[in-house]
Amino acid sequence: MEDVKIENADAVERPATGGGARRSSKAKGARARSAVSAPMNGAGAAPRRRARRRAAGAGGGGGSGRRLGLWLIGAKGDVATTVSVGIEALRLGLTDTTGIVTECHELAGTDLVPVEGIVLGGYDVRGGSPLDAARNVDAESGLFGAALLDAVAPGLEAFGARIKSGFIQRSGPAVEEIATAAIRKKVARPSRWVSGVKRDLARFARENALDAVVVVNVASTEPTDEPPACYASADALLAAIAKDDAGIHASVLYATGAIEAGCPYVNFTPSFGSSIPALAELAERRGVPHMGRDGKTGETLVKAALAPLFVARNLQVLSWTGQNILGNRDGRILEDPTAKRSKSIGKDQVLKSVLGDRLGTSRVGIDFVPSLGDWKTAWDLIHFQGFLGTKMTLQFTWQGADSALAAPLVIDLARLAERAARSGRSGLLTDLAVFFKNPDGVEDHALVHQLDLLLAFAEELRSEGAAVLEAGD
Ligand SMILES: NC(=O)c1ccc[n+]([C@@H]2O[C@H](COP(=O)([O-])OP(=O)(O)OC[C@H]3O[C@@H](n4cnc5c(N)ncnc54)[C@H](O)[C@@H]3O)[C@@H](O)[C@H]2O)c1
Repeated sequence: MEDVKIENADAVERPATGGGARRSSKAKGARARSAVSAPMNGAGAAPRRRARRRAAGAGGGGGSGRRLGLWLIGAKGDVATTVSVGIEALRLGLTDTTGIVTECHELAGTDLVPVEGIVLGGYDVRGGSPLDAARNVDAESGLFGAALLDAVAPGLEAFGARIKSGFIQRSGPAVEEIATAAIRKKVARPSRWVSGVKRDLARFARENALDAVVVVNVASTEPTDEPPACYASADALLAAIAKDDAGIHASVLYATGAIEAGCPYVNFTPSFGSSIPALAELAERRGVPHMGRDGKTGETLVKAALAPLFVARNLQVLSWTGQNILGNRDGRILEDPTAKRSKSIGKDQVLKSVLGDRLGTSRVGIDFVPSLGDWKTAWDLIHFQGFLGTKMTLQFTWQGADSALAAPLVIDLARLAERAARSGRSGLLTDLAVFFKNPDGVEDHALVHQLDLLLAFAEELRSEGAAVLEAGD
């Protein structure tokens, strides 16, 4: 396989700072609670490790002057579209940073690239332009408004010129339906596709004078039934790709290309992406940071915040029933039972992890209701039991604009993954668990513990920055 290494901020050596050993005691407690879990749901392979730092931290220059390329797989989808409208709106000073976690004061001083310094590119398999996509999101869900769309149109057009045709393989029947005829007709060529990803990422970096490129998967959810045997090890996967094996999911091929190119990779979807033992191994081998799986933006976010309450008061949850109704394209894709199963597994994991044997039954439903557009409604009924066998209920209704919740997290993840790579980290970025429904390598799903991990990571980055300044004195 052709080896195109993209420069990931490794150009200038930075002194070692003790491998990130400086952490608050609160953060240390959070790490102890955060057990390392087995990789890839159900597959029995070696346990995952959290990101490692290379002995001499890679670095070079502060984040403020850097240009970060964000390569979105699923570049014309609702989440990607909202990322592009949001970045342009911020660049033009037409909106503020509400919703972007990395902009809150707890993460200040971590030396991230500025949001305005992010350049977008990516793959999709549908026709149309990002501006068409943005107009559709607006018509269906009213997220942007005509004035904002007019203002961001030139930026979206430029983004459109950086979107390339992707490929589908084991992407499920719903994706086959929305893909262009040309993409549907493509003969399976995984080896060429992976080389193509590496070439496209290198070209994207070169043509846009980027200091680093991060790849984020925001493509439609794939069915995750029956992972092929080659997902068990890096060598088996690379051999299967070389033989143009038609059983490998598109998300895995994109992730392989990203990791082989040396680009940090984030899987914002329930698809396999890098969340398989083979790619965990390859990422370690290549020294690339990566993380997944499935952004935590709505019902699961509320569950992760609420479930610890029942533990804190020693209450028994008799049943937790959640019903999600949504009307966007993601909802349509999730109509397919195999894609729906991929999503539901992640949604249910939180309760099992936090409540353990305090949980009676739980159920997650997902229904497609087209008239709702991007506005997802979740209704949860929690039936619980307290002292003297007293039965009580808690209900909540969450109505969120899915893409407006997801887009800022994609921006956060791109900035944090770039920063992690710049400081020499590789492997799983478990510190970023709070962003995911089903965080790779982290079994503790309590939101507050995962937030502790993020805050401790921020503290490490700040102290590394301070050490660099001292060394430069
Ligand atoms: N919106 C949220 O709050 C949220 C939260 C967590 C996870 N997610 C996940 O993020 C993903 C995107 O969500 P969305 O609402 O933008 O969906 P969407 O359907 O609007 O967009 C998905 C895009 O991916 C493209 N695509 C599909 N297969 C592809 C392939 N093989 N290569 C390249 N492009 C491909 C589609 O053409 C489409 O443009 C979904 O998997 C969803 O489950 C979304």
